[in-house]
Amino acid sequence: MSIFKSHIAEMGAYKPPLDGRDPHEHLLLDFNERTLPVCPTVKQAMIDYIQDDRLQCYPSYGNITSRIADYCNVQTSQVMITNGSDQGIDLIIRSACREGNEAIIPGPTFAMYHQVAKVENLNIIEPSYSKDKGFPKSEVLAAITDKTRLIVIANPNNPSGTEVPREDILAIAKAAPEAAILVDECYFEYTQQTVADVVDQYPNLLVTRTFSKTWGLPSVRFGYVISNAENINTLLNVRGPYDINQLAVVAIEAALANPGYTEQYVKEVMEVSKPMFEEFLDQQGIEYWPSVANFVWMFPEKPEELEQYLRRNGVLVRPKTDESSRVGLRINFGSKYQTENLIKLISLFL
Ligand SMILES: Cc1ncc(COP(=O)(O)O)c(C=O)c1O
Repeated sequence: MSIFKSHIAEMGAYKPPLDGRDPHEHLLLDFNERTLPVCPTVKQAMIDYIQDDRLQCYPSYGNITSRIADYCNVQTSQVMITNGSDQGIDLIIRSACREGNEAIIPGPTFAMYHQVAKVENLNIIEPSYSKDKGFPKSEVLAAITDKTRLIVIANPNNPSGTEVPREDILAIAKAAPEAAILVDECYFEYTQQTVADVVDQYPNLLVTRTFSKTWGLPSVRFGYVISNAENINTLLNVRGPYDINQLAVVAIEAALANPGYTEQYVKEVMEVSKPMFEEFLDQQGIEYWPSVANFVWMFPEKPEELEQYLRRNGVLVRPKTDESSRVGLRINFGSKYQTENLIKLISLFL
């Protein structure tokens, strides 16, 4: 018999396929990461911090929260920094839900929501995104009951890249005032779509964001939650005082001092690489889900063979199944040069 709660002892771990990934050996298009190194000033700031002999001190975060708030055009009291947005997701779900509550999590989607919901032993209701209709707004609305304590909206959704209209999010927040509405804006810089501006008008709205994707810093683990000041204060009762690594704060301060570096990358990905790759897919007649993100979920005829072929040629992509168990490949875009090479490689395979 386990010393742990039986439902936790029986569930599986969240294990993304990380083995053997090496940016010096592969073009990594499998985790929606930035495909180019970060700004040299970010690296230098981390080196300088280490050289300054401060590693023996506990983290102290200075004014990083207000710098994030300025970047987001919200109040400092509306922001909590976290150890990646995964921690934001975990804290929100743990703080809002108790065993037996209902959680509406449209799928397929990012695995972490289910992971945390299962740890809390929630009943998960999973309406489906669809390639043609996108976000299942009416199914979500219809699923709301007096037991609903959590509704997750990834905007855009991963792996599908689906955009969720702002009015749908707000209609759902209004329809379920007793539930935490977790809006995951992990890819915000690529889409510029947000509901962070209305967290005071919608007291159940909680936005999670990250420096892992566009800013290229998933290794240092830095995210943040935006919500009304009262919610942020409550979540701070749960987050530990040192949960965010000091070196992450150093890196993020340096990154925020030079936003142009990130903006330039976003521009190249969204205005050059994405349309170039989608045009290629159209020409080849390869089906894909409409995406507003820096990645696309495509359904070539022989997905497993294509994935293996790309792997042999140093490119990693991510197989993901849809609700009918059909395998697609989720591929994130990189620079123009990288996308041109990807297109050449896939053309040879075809
Ligand atoms: C939708 C979504 N949310 C959150 C995350 C995790 O972000 P973080 O690295 O900040 O924990 C990911 C990572 O793939 C994601 O796709």
